[in-house]
Amino acid sequence: MCYGAVTLPCCGLTHSVCDLLAAGVMSSANDLPSQKGRIAQIWVTFWLSALRYSLVTLGVVSGIAGLLVSESHFRSTSAQPRITLGDDAGELRTLYANAEDVAAGKRLAESSCAGCHGINGVSTSAGVPHLAGQRAAYLYLELKNYQAGVRGVSAMNNAVKFLSDDALFKVSAYFASLAPSQPSATNGAIAAAALDPVQVGKTAAAGCAGCHGETGVSKTSGMPSLVGLDPKYLVAAMKAYKGRQRKNDLMKSMVANVSDATMDTIALYYGLQKAERAQTPAPGDRAAGTSASAACSACHGAEGVSGNAAIPSIAGQDAQYLAVALQAYRQGSRLEETMKGIAASLDEDTIKNLSAYYAAQEPKQPNVRKPLTVDEWSQRCDRCHGVNGNSTDPRLPALAGQRVDYLEKVLHDYQTGARKSPQMAAMSDVLTDHDIDSLAAHYAAQKAEVVVYEIVPAR
Ligand code: HEC
Ligand code: HEC
Ligand code: HEC
Ligand code: HEC
Repeated sequence: MCYGAVTLPCCGLTHSVCDLLAAGVMSSANDLPSQKGRIAQIWVTFWLSALRYSLVTLGVVSGIAGLLVSESHFRSTSAQPRITLGDDAGELRTLYANAEDVAAGKRLAESSCAGCHGINGVSTSAGVPHLAGQRAAYLYLELKNYQAGVRGVSAMNNAVKFLSDDALFKVSAYFASLAPSQPSATNGAIAAAALDPVQVGKTAAAGCAGCHGETGVSKTSGMPSLVGLDPKYLVAAMKAYKGRQRKNDLMKSMVANVSDATMDTIALYYGLQKAERAQTPAPGDRAAGTSASAACSACHGAEGVSGNAAIPSIAGQDAQYLAVALQAYRQGSRLEETMKGIAASLDEDTIKNLSAYYAAQEPKQPNVRKPLTVDEWSQRCDRCHGVNGNSTDPRLPALAGQRVDYLEKVLHDYQTGARKSPQMAAMSDVLTDHDIDSLAAHYAAQKAEVVVYEIVPAR
């Protein structure tokens, strides 16, 4: 019954047809037309629809077992009708594998999957997930997804292209039955480094407090407050000092060694501080400033609170800084065409009065969402993925102990739509890159609880 040998597209190895058929790897009807009909298998199939929603005792399982003769081992256009199970039953079928199924799955895994996923389902290759101990129904569903092309193009498409449904079921059962990979010490170290961005910002801003005030509210004339400003503006200002578009040697030296990522966290920190007026004197004629401010309100807002991130709010700002800034625009030492044109026509008194007026206005906290911490995020994820990513639903993947690089990759895939899942699209949509890094590190560092995968007695 075993003719010739074939080379598998996935691993390049040559196998005897006999081995492949025994392992349920081949779709005989499609691949070897001459074989069609020669092999009839006696196949015992459980009538699973009765078991749709719960794992019932084995007694019930065997009680409703039925005998079926078919070619169902092969993914084919077989003439024999196959019992069609409901959607859920199809998924949950993986929960009823017996020792023979698992052994057949192991043979297939050895020949076709181990090269990438490791023979124990523990991957040592970047981008290749661990499969050991992963939930059985989930594995099966994902293999179907690769076959259907739903997960985009990857090494997996070829690996599963020619596998029959039974082969998918058995290999899923095999990997699910293995002990999961446990997090390594390095994963733990990465997780410990994944800190709350607001805290990172606060720490990085410690050296700024001497001039700009502890929480960004200036107490020193000539020093701008950093509260009440949109984080995007603050980041742009820091970059302008660094890149010398905005010339100020002092500020250039302050931000010279600050990375872009740290600038983001500093701006976030100030954006979340309470907006208060600078605690500095504001000499000048406020009433005269009020009328002069008519020329400014179209851009900076009626009372100095701008609704546009590109235009800074000036309400409650230190008066001396406002005056120096206007003089700098007027003299051309601060290069910005819009403000240069406007400041050109302002005399010293008007500058002083405008500064007094705006310094007296009430600043407003910009619209900044406090990002969730990893703990807050993971509580939301755990609702579906189980405590610390140890899923208790066989259809949902465990995340605990998974490779950090793989978790990062797939979270980005959900965001871009390269991998489609309505639930995960909604969850990943609002994640920042920082959130993704932190969550991937968090789950990679969780202990994978061993879930006993029960193998049913032979049929
Ligand atoms: C050439 C390397 C390669 C081979 C061979 C291979 N895989 Fe994969 N597998 C991958 C990569 C890479 C991914 C991740 C792809 C992605 O991001 O979608 C993956 C993903 C998977 C997933 C998804 C896991 C999850 O957590 O979502 C399953 C299940 C899987 N493989 C099972 C198998 C099985 C079963 C075999 C053998 C029949 C196999 N793979 C053979 C490389 C391989
Ligand atoms: C020694 C005092 C001093 C320190 C320390 C200092 N700054 Fe400044 N900062 C200034 C002065 C003075 C200006 C106004 C410069 C100008 O006229 O452009 C300024 C301006 C700024 C501005 C622009 C404000 C605006 O409204 O456009 C930002 C943003 C800023 N600083 C951020 C920081 C950050 C972040 C740190 C810490 C890493 C820091 N500064 C440390 C003195 C300081
Ligand atoms: C057409 C829009 C527009 C008008 C009108 C306008 N501004 Fe501005 N203003 C800007 C923009 C844009 C900036 C940011 C420029 C930069 O990056 O240096 C700015 C910056 C400033 C700054 C610097 C703030 C800081 O935190 O460093 C001050 C002060 C200022 N404007 C005051 C005024 C006053 C006073 C008037 C009215 C006399 C006025 N502006 C009118 C657009 C405008
Ligand atoms: C409403 C339920 C739900 C929530 C909440 C949820 N997930 Fe998922 N997650 C799923 C489902 C369903 C899948 C499988 C989707 C598929 O087939 O691609 C999945 C898959 C994943 C995967 C792919 C696992 C693998 O092995 O390939 C990762 C990673 C993941 N989720 C992370 C998260 C993170 C991080 C959060 C929290 C920010 C989260 N999930 C919240 C339902 C959820």
